[in-house]
Order: sequence, then C-alpha cells, then structure tokens
Amino acid sequence: MKLLKDRILKDGNALSENVLKVDSFLNHQIDAKLMKAVGEEFIERFNDTEITKVLTLESSGIAPSVMVGLQLDIPVVFGRKRQSLTLKDDLYTSQVFSFTKQETNTIAVARKFLSKEDKVLIIDDFLANGEAANALIDVVNQSGAEIVGVGIVIEKAFQSGGKILRDKGYRVESLARIESMYNGNIKFVGDDE
Ligand code: G4P
Ligand code: NA
Ligand code: NA
Repeated sequence: MKLLKDRILKDGNALSENVLKVDSFLNHQIDAKLMKAVGEEFIERFNDTEITKVLTLESSGIAPSVMVGLQLDIPVVFGRKRQSLTLKDDLYTSQVFSFTKQETNTIAVARKFLSKEDKVLIIDDFLANGEAANALIDVVNQSGAEIVGVGIVIEKAFQSGGKILRDKGYRVESLARIESMYNGNIKFVGDDE
C-alpha cells in the first residue's frame, strides 16, 4: 500500500535494526484518515471472502480494525490484556509471549462475542514473531469460528511471524512488509524488483 509505505518513510523512525517507531500515526497519535484508507485496503484485499467479525488486540490494533468494522457494518472485538472483573468461565484466554519484555501475558475475549457461526478477520498493527496473532488464532479456534485471514498493517518480514502463519496455511495480508532497517534505512520487500 503506497500511501502507508510513503508515510512510514516520511514519519517512521527505525530505532534499531528491529524496532520501528510509528507513534505519530499508528501507536500513539492516530491519523484517522490514513486508518480509513488502511481499512479500505484490508476490505479490498479480502473482498472475495465473507467476514462477520473483526478481532484484534488492544490497543493499537483497534483503530485500523474499527475502520474495517465501520465500512463492513460488522462488530469489532478486541482481546483484552488487563484482567477484567468478568468470571473466568465466560472468557476465552490465550498466552502471548513478549520477546521485548521477556514475559508471558494473558489475553481474554468474552465468549459471548465469538461463536462458531462467525467468520473472523484478525487484524493487528504489527507482525513480528507472530505471538499476538497466534494467541488471537487460538481464541478463534476455541470458539469454533472460522478464520478468514490475518490483516497486518506493518509486517517486519525479517522476523518469523509471517512465515509461521503462512506455513500454517493462514492467509496473511500485510499492507507494508519491511525487509530490513539497517542504519535507519527502511527497506520494503520488493523494493529492488
Ligand atoms: P516482539 O514480537 O518483537 O518481541 O514484540 P512483542 O511481542 O514484545 O510486542 C510488543 C509490542 O510491540 C506489541 O504491541 C507489538 O505489536 C509491538 N511491536 C512489535 N514490533 C514492533 C515495532 O517494530 N515497532 C512498534 N512500534 N511496535 C512493535 P503491544 O504491546 O500489544 O502494544 P499496543 O498494541 O498497545 O501498542
Ligand atoms: Na500491537
Ligand atoms: Na504496539
């Protein structure tokens, strides 16, 4: 997606070879107009599928997901990271290991918001090692719903998440795929072609 890649080049900051800071339009301040275009692009890429629900993870997955939900007129559910007061029996839960923080966190989705009749598009802001996406997939599988695919705003293609998901047979659509970030130089997959 050219609009997104241009924005990453303009306002993204490669803090290291592994970490891209995009807090001016995605992770802290949000560019709603760009998110609207991101939502339209996801819908375009999955336009051959039927989707009844969007599933994401708080907090940064919510903005792009809401744009998809708005345009398709379907609900958006986000996995919660903090403990809620709801009874545990009423929740699907899964573990997410964070490589950066070296800790495991539990995510939770209320059972009443996912059923086996649902056809779910999973969306997230970043795909790195695939831990978050795998936890969301686990939650959908517990519900018996169908996974239509995984939509990612920014995939760090040099990390293993994309390959793991695609090898498992999931359809992954990433709107910007970063090949490398050496010396602050952001290079996208396919730039040389
Ligand atoms: P890791 O796979 O690279 O180890 O990342 P980890 O699971 O620890 O993810 C930590 C958070 O950072 C996640 O968001 C993830 O989406 C995000 N993330 C991973 N790589 C990058 C990156 O290169 N740049 C940015 N900006 N974020 C990245 P989160 O904790 O769920 O936070 P949020 O959704 O509330 O923003
Ligand atoms: Na995230
Ligand atoms: Na994040």
